[in-house]
Amino acid sequence: MKAHVSLAAIAATMALAGSTAVSQTLSVFVALPATVAAPADNPTTPEKVALGRLLFWDPILSGHRDVSCATCHHPDFGYAEPLDLSIGTGGVGLGATRTFAPGHPARLVKRNSLTILNAGFNGIGPNSSYDPANAPMFWDSRVNSLEVQALEPIKALEEMRGDAYAEDRVVAEVVARLAANAEYRTLFARAFGPRNAVSADNLGRAMAAFQRSLVATNAPFDRYMRGDTAAMTPQQLRGMNRFQSTGCSNCHSGPMFSDFKTHVLAVPDNGKLATSDSGINGTYAFRTASLRNLAYTAPYMHNGVFDDLDDVVDFYQRISRGGRGGRNGGGRGVNANVTRDQIDPLARQLNMRGGGGGGRGGGGRNSDLIAFLGALNDDGFDRTIPERVPSGLKVGGN
Ligand code: HEC
Ligand code: HEC
Repeated sequence: MKAHVSLAAIAATMALAGSTAVSQTLSVFVALPATVAAPADNPTTPEKVALGRLLFWDPILSGHRDVSCATCHHPDFGYAEPLDLSIGTGGVGLGATRTFAPGHPARLVKRNSLTILNAGFNGIGPNSSYDPANAPMFWDSRVNSLEVQALEPIKALEEMRGDAYAEDRVVAEVVARLAANAEYRTLFARAFGPRNAVSADNLGRAMAAFQRSLVATNAPFDRYMRGDTAAMTPQQLRGMNRFQSTGCSNCHSGPMFSDFKTHVLAVPDNGKLATSDSGINGTYAFRTASLRNLAYTAPYMHNGVFDDLDDVVDFYQRISRGGRGGRNGGGRGVNANVTRDQIDPLARQLNMRGGGGGGRGGGGRNSDLIAFLGALNDDGFDRTIPERVPSGLKVGGN
């Protein structure tokens, strides 16, 4: 698979698109590879993927048997969800209308759901190499690999555990439930061999294998980079140029449009939370978000405070050197707990001039930027929902 397009080819298309000044480092733009890498001790097989899919949709994994992974990672919403902050156990409904059932403690998850789509590529760099056993997971990269990640929501009080079991007991309880189910015993044995197949490790492996099958690698941008010069519109190509000249690509780099590093931006707090979420070790640093499939995964940022991409671009306008200034260099709409000096220099140095005074209203070049982000959507992903799950519980939960 040829992922890089020659500079000359891009320059020629940019010229056609009426754009100026093609920068020299366009190799920051790389298509996704067609296949996902798996760790050496967990090669992907159809048996693991099929088992992982059932587990993903089966509320048997939650303490009160009411929530599945799909509750917050639903194919209708690009394997994320439209709530700013997730509602796990004790909730009813799906998507934007999901609420806490009467009588249940309203314990919101403090973060916005990340999409599972392409999570198998987490950690991938500009040269398309990465180690899936060490792939960073979560907004703060606090765990590595899909295998390890899969057990975390089961242990989390507000997500799947609820009050039913202690944190250090719940995984053993869930494994015991699976081992007591004849259909799961058969499926685990098929995927992992006959001996001690139902285990926490193999639960993580099956979920990881399934999630590696959820990919979207054929966005207009990918097709363009593979040589289909008609795949992107002239406005998207202008936006691609601006994405780089502005400095977005200093952090949003590589095929996932993330350097998979953490940076301090000063995103405002979500007022629904009693305390400020200060990110990694109280630093307000969060992992650079992937920019793929944003059309399906609003709202944005670690706490879902921005409803749309105009709001996100307006925020960058505020914190950049082209911004309008204010109390801490950004003024309203910037996190008051973060000083101007703490904001990552790569963000402060963004050159948002000529943006048309913010994203909203279009007109300015920021609308080109947003058009470019539109070229990173690929809706041709697997949306299969199993008709039943082995526990006999409601597919996907309440
Ligand atoms: C109550 C909602 C909820 C449930 C249930 C849930 N998740 Fe999540 N998921 C989230 C949120 C919120 C995040 C981001 C949390 C963070 O970064 O701190 C997330 C993050 C993730 C990520 C990280 C993606 C990345 O790019 O880093 C993966 C993978 C994931 N979840 C898989 C699962 C699996 C597998 C299950 C079931 C075992 C599950 N989730 C259950 C809400 C949920
Ligand atoms: C200093 C590194 C850095 C630069 C430069 C940067 N970003 Fe980001 N971006 C991040 C980080 C970190 C996050 C996650 C922040 C959070 O949730 O608190 C993010 C989040 C986003 C999101 C939200 C995605 C989601 O799923 O919620 C969008 C959209 C985005 N950036 C677009 C841009 C654009 C457009 C530019 C250029 C104008 C840009 N970024 C420049 C680091 C950067």
